[in-house]
Amino acid sequence: MTPQLRVYVPPHPLIKHWLAVARDAGTPSVLFRSAITELGRWLTYEAAREWLPTLETEVRTPLDTCPATLINPQVPVAVVPILRAGLGLLEGAQSLLPLASVYHLGLVRNEETLEPSCYLNKLPEKFDPQTRVLITDPMLATGGSMMFAMAELTKRGVDPALTRIVSVVAAPPALQKLSAAYPGLNVYTAIIDEVVNDQGYIVPGLGDAGDRIFGT
Ligand code: URA
Repeated sequence: MTPQLRVYVPPHPLIKHWLAVARDAGTPSVLFRSAITELGRWLTYEAAREWLPTLETEVRTPLDTCPATLINPQVPVAVVPILRAGLGLLEGAQSLLPLASVYHLGLVRNEETLEPSCYLNKLPEKFDPQTRVLITDPMLATGGSMMFAMAELTKRGVDPALTRIVSVVAAPPALQKLSAAYPGLNVYTAIIDEVVNDQGYIVPGLGDAGDRIFGT
């Protein structure tokens, strides 16, 4: 069977709550930042299911030994925040993946063509093919930035089937492009909104995520 892009919208009350806070135009920057951090945490928690590599071992309790499951430290885990808005999700992701390497990718969108251009690329030349990669970007609108990120990652050996995208609001144009190019990919998002306007903003969305995280 051909693999398909899987899009998870976890029906979790904490995710719904923090999404509502983030969507509200009256939310001040400091609270918006907390909302995005919390969304990063809970969406990463969901994304880690059946993705984080484990190993079976045994531990000795004060009374006896018993079987135990640990995170496998031999398998590399990487977080790739897409600057600048993806930084907002990083703290929450790192709280659950404290040993992950962080590789920043700085992309800026041309406001006329809506095409991304790259001003910072901290990706290594080659990834171990077993690397679990989690990409963070709160807004999957036209999909230009995420397609750019995926192209940079896969040409460095990253397996799309071992890659998870954490976003907050996703829209059909981005999901359709990713689905066509990377059918094995998994996307975790708080909501899917149907509309992307002519300026490339998701409607109703939550506005410019980077501006609202950083207040600039
Ligand atoms: N980037 C944002 O910050 N917001 C959108 O709605 C779309 C892209």
